[in-house]
Amino acid sequence: MDLSTNYCGIPLETPFILASAPPTASLDLIRRGFEAGWSGAVVKTLLFDPVHNLQNRFSVLKQKGNIIGFENLEQLSAKPPEDWYKIIATLKREFPTKVVIGSIMGDAQSPQQWLELARGCQDAGADLLELNFSCPHGYPEQGRGSAIGQNPDYAAQITRWLKECSDIHLPVVPKLTAAVADIRHMGCMLADAGADGFCAINTLPSFFGFDLKTLRPKPDIDGMTSYGGYSGVGIKPIALRAVSELCQAPGLPIMASGGIATGFDAAEFLLLGAPAVQVCTEVMLRGFGVVTKMQQQLEEFMGWHSFSTTSDFIGLCKEQVTSFGGLHINFKAKPTLNELRCTNCGSCITACRDGGFQAIAPSQSGPIFLMDACDGCSLCSHVCPTGAIQMQSV
Ligand SMILES: Cc1cc2nc3c(=O)[nH]c(=O)nc-3n(C[C@H](O)[C@H](O)[C@H](O)COP(=O)(O)O)c2cc1C
Repeated sequence: MDLSTNYCGIPLETPFILASAPPTASLDLIRRGFEAGWSGAVVKTLLFDPVHNLQNRFSVLKQKGNIIGFENLEQLSAKPPEDWYKIIATLKREFPTKVVIGSIMGDAQSPQQWLELARGCQDAGADLLELNFSCPHGYPEQGRGSAIGQNPDYAAQITRWLKECSDIHLPVVPKLTAAVADIRHMGCMLADAGADGFCAINTLPSFFGFDLKTLRPKPDIDGMTSYGGYSGVGIKPIALRAVSELCQAPGLPIMASGGIATGFDAAEFLLLGAPAVQVCTEVMLRGFGVVTKMQQQLEEFMGWHSFSTTSDFIGLCKEQVTSFGGLHINFKAKPTLNELRCTNCGSCITACRDGGFQAIAPSQSGPIFLMDACDGCSLCSHVCPTGAIQMQSV
């Protein structure tokens, strides 16, 4: 199967790219990522200010021992831009078929900073420029990061500086935050300013709560905490919505980021129209090697539908997502029970009794659906632990 794809005219061996984050914080890390099979990498965001990272800056959300959410208070790259230019040049020399993306952040009021960082990455041989308009912690307090991504005028102005500069030729890809009222409005403003594509989304503003035994906040920075960036599988639905909306308008190519932990997750973003995906948290938790399984899972998905190339399905399901008003108001669906699977555990009865329409009666042989009372809401099918209840259109 052919997993190759294309982003803004740049060929990619597969859709799987390392996101700007700790796994792309040095030459050695990115080199090992490429050797493991990642098709590209966005370097840890470059900026001019010195970075001093807090210790104990991560926290996690767990369910049954598994990490389902990740919070960070990490800053951008601690390496000076000059070091990064050398790293980008080395990577392009050693791995000519891999895509290297320069991620940059400057002051909202400083065209010089953005242009200098962009030129440095371009001269070093980067393939694309990602504009960090979306980091939700630390930088917004200084009018940068997501403070720019929440202000269409500033974001458009910076995009214009780069696109109108006659000696910058790389595609310019703003990385957006979903913490806005209307991401399509931001997307359309930036498309008008000349953006070539988008990366969506970055981490989301969050607070991971308290340790109830010690009464200390999470993450615990000497007894205090601040609002951090939420990433990992829990943010995938928010990323899917943002990517779906941006794929519909303005329709520029998207690199999807947010909660991608498997090749099946990637397939969903590709079905919406994103030709490439970026991964961070899954690599931080399980290492670069996860890309092998992700590729296998994407191939498995392609096999189910006899797709032989990614272009067979990129954007295939884009039109299946519409506004609420675009849905068929008279659509009817009812639950059906597979008696062989039902263990008569009562989960559906409890949920329907207290969260639904009191439409399931208990019996010795299993739940009995009272179709006159049933509203077709589907709650019973979701709480059933064995998959014995399926919704069917009527
Ligand atoms: C510890 C950490 C550091 C990050 N640093 C950056 C960064 O320097 N620049 C950037 O654009 N995004 C940064 N991100 C965001 C990731 O690139 C990615 O967009 C986000 O984590 C969502 O993807 P995920 O759910 O696969 O982690 C960082 C994320 C984490 C968890």
